[in-house]
Amino acid sequence: MADIAILEVNGKRLEFPVIKGAENELAIDIKTLRAASGGVVTIDPGYKNTGSCTSAITFLNGEEGILRYRGYSIEELADKADFLEVAYLLIFGELPTAAQLAKFDADIKAEAHVDEDVKKILDGFPKTAHPMGVLSSLTSALIAFNPDSVNVNSEEDMYNAIVKIMGKFPVLTAWAHRKKMGLPLDYGDDSLGYVENFMKMMFNKPNKEYKANSVINNSIDKLLILHADHEQNCSTSTVRIVGSSHAGLYASISAGISALWGPLHGGANQAVIEMLEDIKADGGDTKKYMAKAKDKQDPFRLMGFGHRVYKNFDPRAKIIKVAADDVLGALGVEDPILEIAKGLEQEALSDSYFVDRKLYPNVDFYSGIIYRALGIPTEMFTPMFALGRLPGWIAQWREMRLQKEPIGRPRQIYTGENLRSFKDVSKR
Ligand code: SDX
Repeated sequence: MADIAILEVNGKRLEFPVIKGAENELAIDIKTLRAASGGVVTIDPGYKNTGSCTSAITFLNGEEGILRYRGYSIEELADKADFLEVAYLLIFGELPTAAQLAKFDADIKAEAHVDEDVKKILDGFPKTAHPMGVLSSLTSALIAFNPDSVNVNSEEDMYNAIVKIMGKFPVLTAWAHRKKMGLPLDYGDDSLGYVENFMKMMFNKPNKEYKANSVINNSIDKLLILHADHEQNCSTSTVRIVGSSHAGLYASISAGISALWGPLHGGANQAVIEMLEDIKADGGDTKKYMAKAKDKQDPFRLMGFGHRVYKNFDPRAKIIKVAADDVLGALGVEDPILEIAKGLEQEALSDSYFVDRKLYPNVDFYSGIIYRALGIPTEMFTPMFALGRLPGWIAQWREMRLQKEPIGRPRQIYTGENLRSFKDVSKR
């Protein structure tokens, strides 16, 4: 017997179907509310209680700290898969066979270059430009250089647009870094794997032979997997709503990059390191910063803590915390801010302000410590998040387009002036 929800509003008694997801989550389907109620809508700032879509890509259970991509646990994927396999899984729904993975890899490599004129756009940026702004602009510029990838409707055209951006995005990300470092732009080497080639493009020096480090490459691969998708977060919702106007994949991804940049979202990984550096410079007094985080008069927040969905440990943070110890140990890196981070975590886990609000370390709390140990500059932390999230954004955009979802256009409740007449300036 399907559930129904009963609502009495505006003098009417209305019934709405309740839909059940594959993991028994329930949602009230209010598609008919406004018409059936005589114009009543719901309101939910931040969409804390509102589902925007049905999706078969990622499942989160915030209370239990569960994260699965297409049914596979994040723990198993981080331990056994590689990033390109996970990208294929997220986008097409199944783990690829060896032949499918080889074709996906080859098709991406065939597109792992960008028009030389893109360099002219990059040259226009000052070295002080934040790489996320550069990356968002260059991604949007891909539209101009790949017009056949804009108004795509067929699955074949979507596949071609997808392998293009999977190939070009690492180039643009590495170029945003090299521009800042004043290094000549580098195309890497397509005999290398996806992550290995990206790291070569990032760190290859013109006058030195590049030596790959498998510890570093394996850690980056795992971090990219952990960041690959996270259902309807802020940037993914942005990708879906921009895509719903049929603006095309690259415009949608460019918008997603801008949404991810914010310090409350993907920009938190950079803000965490800056916060830990401030605490270190201030003598390492974590208690002072815990007090600031709890003081409602103080705008300071404990960056890397809290999450809209996870009211338990973010499973990704658990994996990254272990990886931080492993990577720093393997590289022989001593980083005092790792100890400060662990100290903050311990204090927060026994502090009623954090415990009562279910504020735990999230994916951004430890990731920056690993990026830093791997030699990635702080301003490149959020571009690394974007590189990881790219297949998730693609998968969600593709699902939205294949589901033929309507254009996203929320309603509102107007709270402004009622009708009034124009007054000539002489009478104001
Ligand atoms: C990501 O959505 C996703 O899935 C995102 C993401 C992904 O993979 O895409 O997981 C990636 O964005 C992780 C989050 C990274 N951001 C940060 O680490 C920034 C710090 N965290 C917060 O700003 C906050 O926790 C959010 C933005 C993450 C969540 O905010 P919510 O859900 O809107 O919660 P809220 O702001 O309403 O907070 C509830 C209470 C408030 O206190 P009260 O009004 O109840 O007294 O908790 C407090 C907040 O003041 N609070 C914090 C806090 N986070 C929440 N207090 C101090 N420090 C914090 N970090």
